[in-house]
Amino acid sequence: MSKYKIPYGRQNINQVDIDAVIETLTADFLTQGPKVQEFESLFAEYVGAKYAVAVSNATAGLHLSVLALDLQKNDRVITTPITFAATANCIRYAGAEVWFADIDPDSYLIDFEKVKALVESKPKGFFKGIIPVDFAGLPVNLEKFKALAKEHGLWIIEDACHAPGAYFTDSKGVKNTCGNGKYTNLSVFSFHPVKHIACGEGGMVTTNSKELYQRLKSLRSHGITKDSMAENHGGWYYEMQELGFNYRLTDIQSALGITQLAKNKEGVILRNEIAKRYKKAFKGIVKYQSLESNNYNAHHLFVIEVDDRKGLYEHLRTNGVFAQIHYIPVHNLPYYKEIGYDKANLKNAENYYNRCISLPMFPTLREDEQNFVIEKVLNFVNE
Ligand SMILES: Cc1ncc(COP(=O)(O)O)c(C=O)c1O
Repeated sequence: MSKYKIPYGRQNINQVDIDAVIETLTADFLTQGPKVQEFESLFAEYVGAKYAVAVSNATAGLHLSVLALDLQKNDRVITTPITFAATANCIRYAGAEVWFADIDPDSYLIDFEKVKALVESKPKGFFKGIIPVDFAGLPVNLEKFKALAKEHGLWIIEDACHAPGAYFTDSKGVKNTCGNGKYTNLSVFSFHPVKHIACGEGGMVTTNSKELYQRLKSLRSHGITKDSMAENHGGWYYEMQELGFNYRLTDIQSALGITQLAKNKEGVILRNEIAKRYKKAFKGIVKYQSLESNNYNAHHLFVIEVDDRKGLYEHLRTNGVFAQIHYIPVHNLPYYKEIGYDKANLKNAENYYNRCISLPMFPTLREDEQNFVIEKVLNFVNE
């Protein structure tokens, strides 16, 4: 039996988080109180966006995003096959078609050239939008996507679930924090415990558009609005103006989100230090995700590629290291296969899936644990 038991990801909760949650439990509001708004404005400030809307999870955030952008039945949206199913599912929620573009074999991000070729192969108006994913924490170069989107009348939703605190540098040398809204219509973050900021469940949508912000807020809460109606009707009065949902985040979760957000900058620095040690140990021996210079990876994951992925997965488990696979390509999941996506030509994604494995990556991963993981990986590949 190994003396280690190391998961691939773990939340970082300490007394500050616990105190914040307890304080909220004895306050006036458990939900829809001041903590939600405080979390939203702190998050908007953190990423440099004008507006942020807290939601019950990122899946809900993605759903609201496509609705706010008026995605309709039979519309078409492009995304990557190497992501969690929720990225593609939001397109299906609207009854629209998912079109996958293959990934780049080195960055594992959706390949811009493939997206461009796909968009240009169809008449204008054929596609409605693109959902690129900052996979593993590596930011997509959204400047290129925005130029393409502008030319073809597409919207962009950035799935930034893996990337709070990451940035890419644009052609003017400006560092664009993921979610700042400069090159996207909307960006979506997740606060599931394996992610950077843990709320139990939770998510955030950021934007610079006031119109989209108001639409998201309405859809998040049943399509109900109360604003400025009391004067004519009475304080109790509200109207349901469209069919919305209850996708709200609670005050309890927001209190936790606030203390978690305060730790994120330091957490991303620690994740990058771990990545640096992994890279030093694996350079020239094991392939890992590559990064354009001047970009900053939030390192939700540290993905490597090996020939015998199943063998390494089992070897690590036997030694108490619980690595994970991100992801089974979405087009190969039974639901998507049944629609006919199994015939899709997405060779890079499939080749990647056969070789990828995510090593432990979280801010509290100790140095001895890092050394142990490195030793076990190198033992296996050098065997
Ligand atoms: C890339 C990506 N998008 C969306 C989601 C959905 O997030 P949530 O679990 O908060 O709904 C996840 C969660 O794993 C994810 O990794």
